[in-house]
Amino acid sequence: MHIDHIGIAVSDLESAINRYEALLGTPCYKRERVESEGVETAFFATGESKVELLGATNEASVIAKFIAKRGEGLHHTAFEVADIRAEMARLKAQGYTLLNEEPKMGADNKLIAFLHPKDANGVLMELCQSVLS
Ligand code: CO
Repeated sequence: MHIDHIGIAVSDLESAINRYEALLGTPCYKRERVESEGVETAFFATGESKVELLGATNEASVIAKFIAKRGEGLHHTAFEVADIRAEMARLKAQGYTLLNEEPKMGADNKLIAFLHPKDANGVLMELCQSVLS
Protein backbone atom coordinates (compact mmCIF):
# COMPACT_ATOMS: atom_id res chain seq x y z
CA MET A 1 0.00 0.00 0.00
CA HIS A 2 2.67 2.48 1.05
CA ILE A 3 5.87 2.79 3.04
CA ASP A 4 4.62 2.70 6.63
CA HIS A 5 7.95 3.52 8.23
CA ILE A 6 11.69 3.32 7.98
CA GLY A 7 13.53 1.80 10.93
CA ILE A 8 16.82 3.33 12.05
CA ALA A 9 19.13 1.50 14.46
CA VAL A 10 20.64 3.81 17.08
CA SER A 11 23.07 3.13 19.90
CA ASP A 12 21.74 5.78 22.30
CA LEU A 13 17.96 6.10 22.02
CA GLU A 14 17.64 9.14 24.31
CA SER A 15 20.11 11.28 22.39
CA ALA A 16 18.76 10.01 19.05
CA ILE A 17 15.22 11.06 20.07
CA ASN A 18 16.45 14.57 20.88
CA ARG A 19 18.30 14.75 17.59
CA TYR A 20 15.37 13.52 15.50
CA GLU A 21 12.91 15.82 17.27
CA ALA A 22 15.10 18.74 16.21
CA LEU A 23 15.83 17.29 12.77
CA LEU A 24 12.23 16.48 11.86
CA GLY A 25 10.68 19.39 13.76
CA THR A 26 8.13 17.10 15.38
CA PRO A 27 8.06 15.43 18.79
CA CYS A 28 8.37 11.72 19.35
CA TYR A 29 4.72 10.74 19.78
CA LYS A 30 5.11 7.20 21.04
CA ARG A 31 7.67 4.96 22.69
CA GLU A 32 7.21 1.26 23.01
CA ARG A 33 9.33 -1.63 24.22
CA VAL A 34 9.12 -4.93 22.37
CA GLU A 35 10.58 -7.24 25.03
CA SER A 36 10.55 -10.32 22.79
CA GLU A 37 12.96 -8.54 20.40
CA GLY A 38 15.04 -6.72 23.01
CA VAL A 39 14.13 -3.43 21.37
CA GLU A 40 12.80 -0.06 22.44
CA THR A 41 11.17 1.97 19.68
CA ALA A 42 10.43 5.68 19.30
CA PHE A 43 8.08 6.94 16.59
CA PHE A 44 7.90 10.20 14.67
CA ALA A 45 5.07 11.14 12.33
CA THR A 46 6.24 12.37 8.92
CA GLY A 47 3.26 12.63 6.60
CA GLU A 48 1.78 9.26 5.67
CA SER A 49 4.95 7.47 6.78
CA LYS A 50 6.79 7.31 10.09
CA VAL A 51 10.34 7.17 11.30
CA GLU A 52 11.01 4.44 13.87
CA LEU A 53 14.16 4.70 15.96
CA LEU A 54 15.29 1.35 17.33
CA GLY A 55 17.49 1.00 20.39
CA ALA A 56 18.67 -2.25 21.96
CA THR A 57 17.52 -3.10 25.49
CA ASN A 58 20.00 -5.95 25.96
CA GLU A 59 23.18 -7.38 24.45
CA ALA A 60 21.37 -10.21 22.67
CA SER A 61 19.05 -7.80 20.85
CA VAL A 62 18.99 -7.92 17.05
CA ILE A 63 19.68 -4.18 17.15
CA ALA A 64 22.78 -4.61 19.35
CA LYS A 65 24.07 -7.23 16.90
CA PHE A 66 23.26 -5.06 13.89
CA ILE A 67 25.12 -2.05 15.32
CA ALA A 68 28.11 -4.19 16.34
CA LYS A 69 28.36 -5.49 12.77
CA ARG A 70 27.40 -2.50 10.65
CA GLY A 71 27.16 0.52 12.89
CA GLU A 72 24.18 2.80 13.31
CA GLY A 73 21.94 3.55 10.36
CA LEU A 74 19.06 2.40 8.22
CA HIS A 75 17.88 -0.97 9.54
CA HIS A 76 14.71 -1.75 7.60
CA THR A 77 11.97 -0.38 5.37
CA ALA A 78 8.41 -1.35 6.22
CA PHE A 79 5.54 -1.64 3.77
CA GLU A 80 1.97 -1.62 5.00
CA VAL A 81 -0.07 -4.41 3.43
CA ALA A 82 -3.78 -5.20 3.63
CA ASP A 83 -3.33 -8.93 4.22
CA ILE A 84 0.06 -9.94 5.57
CA ARG A 85 -0.55 -13.68 5.35
CA ALA A 86 -1.53 -13.39 1.69
CA GLU A 87 1.58 -11.31 0.92
CA MET A 88 3.82 -13.76 2.77
CA ALA A 89 2.32 -16.65 0.78
CA ARG A 90 2.71 -14.72 -2.49
CA LEU A 91 6.39 -13.97 -1.81
CA LYS A 92 7.14 -17.47 -0.56
CA ALA A 93 5.61 -18.95 -3.72
CA GLN A 94 8.04 -16.80 -5.73
CA GLY A 95 11.02 -18.16 -3.83
CA TYR A 96 11.63 -15.31 -1.42
CA THR A 97 13.01 -16.16 2.01
CA LEU A 98 10.90 -15.00 4.92
CA LEU A 99 12.67 -14.63 8.25
CA ASN A 100 9.58 -15.77 10.11
CA GLU A 101 7.04 -18.34 9.03
CA GLU A 102 4.15 -16.71 10.83
CA PRO A 103 3.46 -12.99 11.32
CA LYS A 104 4.48 -11.82 14.78
CA MET A 105 3.27 -8.96 16.93
CA GLY A 106 5.50 -5.92 16.58
CA ALA A 107 5.35 -2.36 17.87
CA ASP A 108 2.50 0.00 16.97
CA ASN A 109 -0.26 -2.66 16.99
CA LYS A 110 1.03 -4.33 13.88
CA LEU A 111 1.53 -7.84 12.69
CA ILE A 112 4.95 -7.95 11.08
CA ALA A 113 7.14 -10.25 9.02
CA PHE A 114 10.62 -9.77 7.58
CA LEU A 115 12.05 -10.70 4.24
CA HIS A 116 15.72 -11.71 4.00
CA PRO A 117 17.90 -8.78 2.82
CA LYS A 118 19.60 -10.97 0.21
CA ASP A 119 16.28 -11.10 -1.63
CA ALA A 120 15.96 -7.31 -1.75
CA ASN A 121 19.41 -6.14 -2.80
CA GLY A 122 20.63 -5.74 0.74
CA VAL A 123 17.57 -4.08 2.24
CA LEU A 124 15.76 -5.70 5.16
CA MET A 125 12.09 -5.46 4.21
CA GLU A 126 9.30 -5.55 6.74
CA LEU A 127 5.70 -6.25 5.89
CA CYS A 128 3.22 -4.87 8.38
CA GLN A 129 -0.51 -4.99 8.81
CA SER A 130 -2.35 -2.84 11.31
CA VAL A 131 -4.52 -4.74 13.73
CA LEU A 132 -7.13 -3.32 16.05
CA SER A 133 -5.91 -3.24 19.62
CO1 CO B 1 9.62 -1.63 11.78
